[in-house]
Amino acid sequence: MFMLLAFGLLLQEILANSQAENLTEFKTIPEEPLYSYEVINLPDEHIPYFLHNNQHIAGICKQDSHCPYKKYLKKLRSCWGYEKSCKSDYRFSYPVCDYVETGWANDIETAQQIFWKQADFGYIRERLNEMKTHCKPAATGDSSLTCSQYLQHCRATNLYIDLRTVKRNHDRFKEDFLQKGEIGGHCSLDVQAFLAEGQRKSPLQSWFAELQTFTALNFRPLEDEKCDVVIEKPTYFMKLDAGVNMYHHFCDFVNLYITQHINNSFGTDVNIVMWDTVS
Ligand SMILES: *[C@@H]1O[C@H](CO)[C@@H](O)[C@H](O)[C@H]1NC(C)=O
Ligand SMILES: *[C@@H]1O[C@H](CO)[C@@H](O)[C@H](O)[C@H]1NC(C)=O
Repeated sequence: MFMLLAFGLLLQEILANSQAENLTEFKTIPEEPLYSYEVINLPDEHIPYFLHNNQHIAGICKQDSHCPYKKYLKKLRSCWGYEKSCKSDYRFSYPVCDYVETGWANDIETAQQIFWKQADFGYIRERLNEMKTHCKPAATGDSSLTCSQYLQHCRATNLYIDLRTVKRNHDRFKEDFLQKGEIGGHCSLDVQAFLAEGQRKSPLQSWFAELQTFTALNFRPLEDEKCDVVIEKPTYFMKLDAGVNMYHHFCDFVNLYITQHINNSFGTDVNIVMWDTVS
């Protein structure tokens, strides 16, 4: 009886000791993680590729004992294939063709290359190569407009849109929805080069119709408080194909995913605006 009691006490003491140890242990790791890793929000297999394209985050991860992605720091050479820094041995994939369809390509190598550029991550390299800043900012806080060829992909900052007097009808993609002065930014626009990008003007092929009235404004939309609503959250504009079946709707998801790669941003705290001008 006495023995049991003694053991009981001893056991309690050991427990109490280890608890105290754990407490002090916690106190010696006081800092917070150096980065909000949860905003990355990507499948684990994509993390090495993400870190390759975000070396500053990889650098933080190296120094941070809280980083959940330490095991991927050994694989930093992994890349999608469109990055300038990507070595072909480390790229995600490359097409393999075992015969050539004549009339489409002359040899296997060309066939693979065409597939890569049109239906694989090479497509993103092609768009990145075409990027041109049409509206150039001069000072911080200015606007900008940068697009790939034919305005198939565009990125704008401090974009001004005036929706006060727009007219709608039955068109899902009304070509003259925004008049001159209703869309633009405080930046200098090369109008001639910009308007030369119209060869693919068509609702689902480019943003030319929506942007052809883009103008360089003589005011700063934000500083001069010209807007009733200011949207700070990163925002994607999308024109959707028909959502009635998965075949057509799938293009929309693929296009959004391509856009994420082009912009190298995979955050999910974003707006997605479905551009549809029907009344
Ligand atoms: C102390 O921490 C270790 C490992 O973190 C844990 O297994 C153990 O249960 C903890 N002990 C107490 C008493 O909390
Ligand atoms: C595009 O990338 C820029 C620069 O990293 C970022 O500031 C912006 O939020 C991204 N846009 C979207 C819609 O995620």
